[in-house]
Amino acid sequence: MNTKARIAVVGAGLMGHGIAQVFALSGHDVAITDSHSPALGAAKQRIAANLRELGDDETAVERVRPVPDLADCVRDADFVVEAVLEDMPLKQKIFGEIEKHVRPDTILASNTSVMPITEIMGGLQRRERALGTHWWNPPFLVPLVEVIGTQWTSQHAIDFTMKLHADAGKTPAHVKKDVPGFIGNRLQHALWREAISLVERGICDAQTVDAVIKAAFGRRLPVLGPLENADLVGTDLTLAIHKTVLPDLESRPGPSPYLERLVAEGKLGFKSGEGFRKWSAEEQAALRMKVLQHLKKARDA
Ligand SMILES: NC(=O)c1ccc[n+]([C@@H]2O[C@H](COP(=O)([O-])OP(=O)(O)OC[C@H]3O[C@@H](n4cnc5c(N)ncnc54)[C@H](O)[C@@H]3O)[C@@H](O)[C@H]2O)c1
Repeated sequence: MNTKARIAVVGAGLMGHGIAQVFALSGHDVAITDSHSPALGAAKQRIAANLRELGDDETAVERVRPVPDLADCVRDADFVVEAVLEDMPLKQKIFGEIEKHVRPDTILASNTSVMPITEIMGGLQRRERALGTHWWNPPFLVPLVEVIGTQWTSQHAIDFTMKLHADAGKTPAHVKKDVPGFIGNRLQHALWREAISLVERGICDAQTVDAVIKAAFGRRLPVLGPLENADLVGTDLTLAIHKTVLPDLESRPGPSPYLERLVAEGKLGFKSGEGFRKWSAEEQAALRMKVLQHLKKARDA
């Protein structure tokens, strides 16, 4: 077994309880806190239910300790990960508070989706131990954790964090510069920008965009990344394709007016029953289930 660390998770919501679960399952003692007592109260139940459902060791939940007070939660921790709401002043305030109660060498991580780690951690006394760890939902099924360093982050903090997550069965990726969207969301949203543009320009409808991706390069993506693919077909062919295709790709710097119109019209996707297309309650449930089953199968494989 890997070296045991004391982990503290701040925020016991969708991401926080799942992150706590992963660390507990890998043998670490995990303290978890949340300012909303029902969320903290439900954390162990949610973890126990997930472990049961996944067929994982159910006793792992015994290593998770809900702690109502933030200071008590983080005091003895080797590694603190924050997963509270996506709110910059709140995150800055919480890290300021956390730093008062941890050892000087405790590593501090934020699970922000897109906010600059530099801005979240800029006010700390010891910025060298601060970084981002960007997990993907659900944390216990999607392997990637992006480990984002700032200009101040020490090599030790990066190395410790990469190893901690790799030992917990995750696939850590080191993001060497703190850029918006890190790596995963930059790539994902570059694709989404073009996908929306194809619909906006009347080249195809939304279902066709998704069908093309799933039936073509989506099939290969789990085993063939784009740069492996470029090498496989040849960088010369890639260059020739780019000379023809790139000038016509969507390149506007802001969100698409088509997307802005959908939002203005209240077409918010699942939550309103219509977004790029209409969604009945049954279709929504079926798609959620399909994604979950797919992720479980991929994990078990
Ligand atoms: N949901 C996702 O798919 C996803 C993926 C990657 C990263 N993230 C990021 O993870 C973070 C958490 O997202 P989530 O989806 O788990 O949100 P969530 O709303 O499910 O959970 C946030 C929790 O933080 C708690 N909280 C709020 N203020 C607090 C405080 N002062 N002290 C302690 N706890 C407090 C809330 O009570 C809530 O339980 C966000 O920064 C989000 O952007 C989310």
